[in-house]
Amino acid sequence: MKILFETGNQGKLKEVQAIFGALGHEVEQLKDEYPEIQADTLEEVVVAGLEWLWNKHKMPIIIDDSGIFIHSLKGFPGVYSAYVFKTLGCPGILKQMEGIDERKAEFKCCAGYVDSEGKITTTSGVCQGRIISEMRGSGGFGYDPIFVPESHEETFAQMDLEEKNTLSHRGRAFRSLAETMGKE
Ligand code: IMP
Repeated sequence: MKILFETGNQGKLKEVQAIFGALGHEVEQLKDEYPEIQADTLEEVVVAGLEWLWNKHKMPIIIDDSGIFIHSLKGFPGVYSAYVFKTLGCPGILKQMEGIDERKAEFKCCAGYVDSEGKITTTSGVCQGRIISEMRGSGGFGYDPIFVPESHEETFAQMDLEEKNTLSHRGRAFRSLAETMGKE
């Protein structure tokens, strides 16, 4: 099956192509940025995005919305992760965390699919881990250099794409989305 994935993020594109590729599906990029609503949950953002894309294209499309939730910062940056990354980046997060011993964090991803009839399905994936005190690695994107998943020593930015996909919030969310799509 050929699947359209709306994203402007090449890192996400490669990850999702590998996840669906392993299941025998081809993922093509659709570049048509949908307006991201301000909402309390990733799922609300995904549903609103898919409704907008469906009204415009009337075609099956997948998207995702993700964020990093840092326990000691009460879940910040969470749904504001994209804005915080653009303004403060990884160095800004490390600065916020200076002197804080409690480093637990989780990445969350909500993946969504609108089918050929406009029906929307969403799934989610979580990856628990911790924020380290310096940036490590050159792979991946976004907050990858400062996040080490639970039971591991390397950051996502030090792992290859397959290893990140096995553990990541996005890998988990899209594998379960693929399972749901396969049952329809
Ligand atoms: P969005 O899903 O594109 O809105 O992403 C929100 C923010 O979180 C962006 O700044 C991304 O770079 C970052 N982000 C999302 N997923 C990941 C990931 O897998 N690794 C690192 N950063 C991520």
